[in-house]
Amino acid sequence: MTEQTTLIRQSAATAADNQRKVFIKTYGCQMNVYDSERMGEALAADGYQPTDNVEDADLILLNTCHIREKAAEKVYSALGRYRDLKAARAAEGRETLIGVAGCVAQAEGEEILRRSPAVDVVIGPQTYHRLPQALVKAKAGERVVDTEYAVEDKFDYLPKKERGARPKNVSAFLTVQEGCDKFCTFCVVPYTRGAEISRSLKQILDEARRLAENGVREITLLGQNVNAWHGESEDGAEWGLGDLLFELASIEGIARLRYTTSHPRDMDDRLMQAHRELGKLMPYLHLPVQAGSDRILKAMNRKHTAEEYLALIERIREARPDIAMSGDFIVGFPGETEEDFQATLALVERVRYAQAFSFKYSPRPGTPGAELTDQVPEDEKAGRLQRLQALLTRHQLEFAQSRIGMEMDILLEKPGRNEGQMIGRSPWLQSVVVAADESEIGQMVRVKITEASANSLAATRIG
Ligand code: 5AD
Ligand code: SF4
Repeated sequence: MTEQTTLIRQSAATAADNQRKVFIKTYGCQMNVYDSERMGEALAADGYQPTDNVEDADLILLNTCHIREKAAEKVYSALGRYRDLKAARAAEGRETLIGVAGCVAQAEGEEILRRSPAVDVVIGPQTYHRLPQALVKAKAGERVVDTEYAVEDKFDYLPKKERGARPKNVSAFLTVQEGCDKFCTFCVVPYTRGAEISRSLKQILDEARRLAENGVREITLLGQNVNAWHGESEDGAEWGLGDLLFELASIEGIARLRYTTSHPRDMDDRLMQAHRELGKLMPYLHLPVQAGSDRILKAMNRKHTAEEYLALIERIREARPDIAMSGDFIVGFPGETEEDFQATLALVERVRYAQAFSFKYSPRPGTPGAELTDQVPEDEKAGRLQRLQALLTRHQLEFAQSRIGMEMDILLEKPGRNEGQMIGRSPWLQSVVVAADESEIGQMVRVKITEASANSLAATRIG
């Protein structure tokens, strides 16, 4: 073969590679959304274009969640469907690789290969930067499991593509912290995501500046335990999340900051000060309590009482009176009696959450809760969940309705369902529908709220 034909063949191969497509399906929390974006970027550098149509995909990647049993089972049933798709494509002479990433990958590892013979790659949340190498092996016919905790930092190795250049990215996630050392007795996170680690201040500031340069106006800092973030400032001082927020607020172009998810034990004075003094820090806080009975909180190893949590909220509201609270709840933790459950309802009545997420307790293998003998019957859990959700939904609606007549700034994010409508976000994370032009996406506009439902608001423009 002449040198020239080799070159031609190579460029033909590159062109074919460039047409490879990846379909990424994301389950679970916002941290997975963030990780899926980063994996998409790593794969783009490797020649994969994203597709929303799974039937077009040469690579199907599931970024999975293991937090509750249902979440994990969803992954296995999706894998069953993709196995059939892979077989159908193979019959047409097209190769399809299937990868499982995320927390199910971390928790189940080899077991996934056993249960799902169509899977080629299993890769844990700490090793995404090794995905391209795993795919090379998979293409050569090897089935790969890579769930070792990497000594190197995945974020240092992922390509730094321009993020947020398109108007859809007015708002972006930025992971600052991963893992958890709290060991709540119901939770798999300390096992699937490992010990608490913080990204360095420099890495975070570099990424935030890049986002701002690309038109991002709102950043949500992410972490399983985001307010446990700690780092070192340029002059060697020990910094916490409050200090980080003050620093981020000084970045030009960034108009709004949020963070999630927090633990009540890590709400320190500096963070309170950030809520008090930083106009850019939005008046919305997701602060899970899980339950209202001290006995259950203790069994859950939450390390605080209901009264301590309520006193904390009082302090937060004193610092930022218009703050809206959001929470997570678990009903039917082992040993939970009707009286314990009533304590949860009483706590909810006192806090009046603007938004909440509630779940039936789901025993997770390997966690202390799963070993407890006094599990609550399924129908009892279902009944309690229904009663709790009725109350939470009522409060959510009341909060939304309390916005009617209010004037506020909303950040326009994307087109609405109807022509001439755009959707923006209120400071309290609500979707607001307003008449606007697509060219205004990314701008802050002044509106007056006219209508409210539990999940969205309607508004007219003012000013
Ligand atoms: N069962 C039910 N809900 C759970 N959560 C975490 N683990 C479990 C479990 N085993 C809920 C908690 C947590 C949220 C992310 O998911 O409320 O805050
Ligand atoms: Fe899980 Fe508790 Fe850690 Fe939250 S604080 S991730 S619920 S162990």
